[in-house]
Order: sequence, then C-alpha cells, then structure tokens
Amino acid sequence: MTAASEPDRGLFRDDGDVVVRFEDVSKTFVTGPAKARREVVAVDGVSLEIRRGEIFGVIGYSGAGKSTLVRLINGLEPVTSGSLTVGGFEVAGRRETELAPVRQHIGMIFQQFNLFTSRTVAGNVEYPLKRAGWPKDKRRARVAELLEFVGLSERAGNYPEQLSGGQKQRVGIARALATSPKLLLADESTSALDPETTQEVLQVLQRVNRELGITIVLITHEMDVVRAIADRVAVMQNGKVVEHGSTVDIFARPRTETARRFVSSVLHSVPDAREVERLRRAHRGRLVIVDVGDGVDIGGVLSDGASRGVRFTIAYGGISVLQEQSFGSLTFELTGEDAAVQDVVDELSRITTLREVAA
Ligand SMILES: Nc1ncnc2c1ncn2[C@@H]1O[C@H](COP(=O)(O)OP(=O)(O)OP(=O)(O)O)[C@@H](O)[C@H]1O
Ligand SMILES: [Mg+2]
Repeated sequence: MTAASEPDRGLFRDDGDVVVRFEDVSKTFVTGPAKARREVVAVDGVSLEIRRGEIFGVIGYSGAGKSTLVRLINGLEPVTSGSLTVGGFEVAGRRETELAPVRQHIGMIFQQFNLFTSRTVAGNVEYPLKRAGWPKDKRRARVAELLEFVGLSERAGNYPEQLSGGQKQRVGIARALATSPKLLLADESTSALDPETTQEVLQVLQRVNRELGITIVLITHEMDVVRAIADRVAVMQNGKVVEHGSTVDIFARPRTETARRFVSSVLHSVPDAREVERLRRAHRGRLVIVDVGDGVDIGGVLSDGASRGVRFTIAYGGISVLQEQSFGSLTFELTGEDAAVQDVVDELSRITTLREVAA
C-alpha cells in the first residue's frame, strides 16, 4: 500500500530522528468542587524521545498515567508544564485550533475499537476521508486499498456487530491509517482480545510499522505485547517513567522492581513468593537468585567455588532468547564452608544482579 498524497506542512519532516520529545512534562488534573479541590499528578516530570520508525511500548499498571501520556501527544489533554514536541511542533500551551495540523498526522486506535455501529466496515474506514474532503472516487479506491491491507476486503459491507474482536480492531487500524498518519497511537489496542487474536492484531501493527514506516506508540499493561513487537519500552509508575530502554535490555537487565515484575510475568524464570517459600523449605543452604545473560560468566564463578568445596544445586530458573540475546534467571542453593560460600556470593553480586532468599 502506498501513502496517500496529502500536504504535510513541514511537520514530521524537519524533526530529525525524533518524532515525539517529552522534556520534563507534567500533567495535573484538578478535580472536585471548589472547597474540596484535589490534584492528581497523572504524568510527573517525564522526559522521553520517541524515534522515527520505531514501535515504542509504554507499560505500567492501572493508573500509572499511560493513557494520559498518549492523550498529551495528540493534544486531547493540555500539558501542565514542560515541553512536548510532536513532529517538530511544540504542542504545550497551544490552543485547540492550533493543534489541527499536528493531529492530521496522528492516528489512534482504542481498546473498545470505537467503531460507528450504524456504518458498514467500508463506511467506518471512509469516514475520516470524508471529513478530510476527499472526492468520492478517491475515497472508494483508498478504502479498498486499506481493507486489503488489513485483510478485510470481503467484509466491506458488514456492520461491526457482525465481526469478531480482532476483525473490529483491524477495521480500527484501517480507519486510523486512512489519511496516512506519520504516528499511530494504540492505547490498550489488544486488551479486549484473547491471546491468539492479540497476536493477529500485533502482526498487523508490525506490518503498519515495517511496510508503511509509521511510528507506533503502543500502550499496554501486558509484557507479552511489548515482547512481541516493541523496539523500545518505557515503564511507568505513579506518573513517572521509572525505566526505559530497548526491549531486549529491559528484559535482560530490569533495574526497577516494577520492570522486574513485568519481565517475570512473561518469563516465569524468577520464583514468586509462594515458590520461594517452597524452595526455602526444600533447601537448607544459602539460596540466591541471579540474573543470567550473554557475557555473564556464572559457570566460571561456580567452578572457582567448587575448587574450594562449594557445592551448588539449581533450584529454579529459566533462560529465554529475545532478538538473539539470551537472558533469564537462575536460583541456586549454595552449600559448603561459610567463608568460601560468601566469596561465591560476593563474586556473583559483582558480575550480575543477585538477590538472596532470607534463611
Ligand atoms: N480526566 C481526568 N480527571 C481526573 N483524573 C484523571 C483524569 N484522567 C486520568 N486521571 C487520573 O490520572 C491517573 C492516571 O490515569 P491514566 O488513565 O493515565 O492511567 P493508565 O495508566 O492509563 O491506567 P489504565 O491502565 O487503568 O488505563 C489516575 O490516577 C487517574 O485517576
Ligand atoms: Mg489507560
């Protein structure tokens, strides 16, 4: 599919490699009656760059501020403080009418699809083209092209209620792409779908990114979604970005407890609290949980220890490969003379992240 030819007024062209730049951005909501006003800091001092052509994931638990963060990008909510440029255009402090040229380059898809139930599939996809003033014959050709791209040509005359969730979301994607946005915002776009349908929609998003070169911001609370298609990811907690980096790095070396919990939600290589309790009962020696990955020579440390009589038993663990890098976690029981065991623990702590299970 080709990009539709529409004037883009310089936006998204002269912004270098960075499509969206947050600089110390905060968003505060003020709620409640005058006497009992309450402030909620939904986004708190966020600095981030979203680069051209990437799929950027934003993950966090409910209430972390993910939706607010994306709503700032398309100006659905005004920024309270800081600077936010989108396609090279500063959106902070702009009036509603000044945002139209930026929004023209942004498509959005939603958890609940937000389709018009009274319009057909083709009618839904055609809607933004009508609003943009496209003539009828061009609209028809564009709708056909878009429906083919998402694999729904046969469904053009159906109404949304006749479609599965995954098909509805593909209509949502086709509609969002109609006017050839440079940036696609996807807020929990697969959260209403089962795992298989989720993969189907994620594959379409990956094609949107790779074949059409559209930058995607992908909001989710599922680490599986990040693992499947995100190039980079930001982890949000209480309005802050507590960690961000390449998806591989976050999986291999999560630094915050929140990131670690998200990673272990899909890798299952770290024992949870109940499993730790069971391990503690089954093993009497010192129990340590270490992160493993390429270039971390756990084996070397353990064989040095073995030469001093330290024995190890692997009690729990798993190693996975993502984008050609391996990472995971192993839980060992170490037994032997106290000082020698301590040396092994110290050496492991030096080369990787180590947590000890209390005796
Ligand atoms: N319009 C609003 N008015 C007042 N408070 C709001 C508003 N929108 C969001 N908030 C508050 O801001 C915080 C962040 O909300 P947000 O919807 O961005 O979180 P989220 O990470 O998207 O959560 P979820 O995973 O549940 O969608 C929450 O405390 C929420 O209650
Ligand atoms: Mg949300």
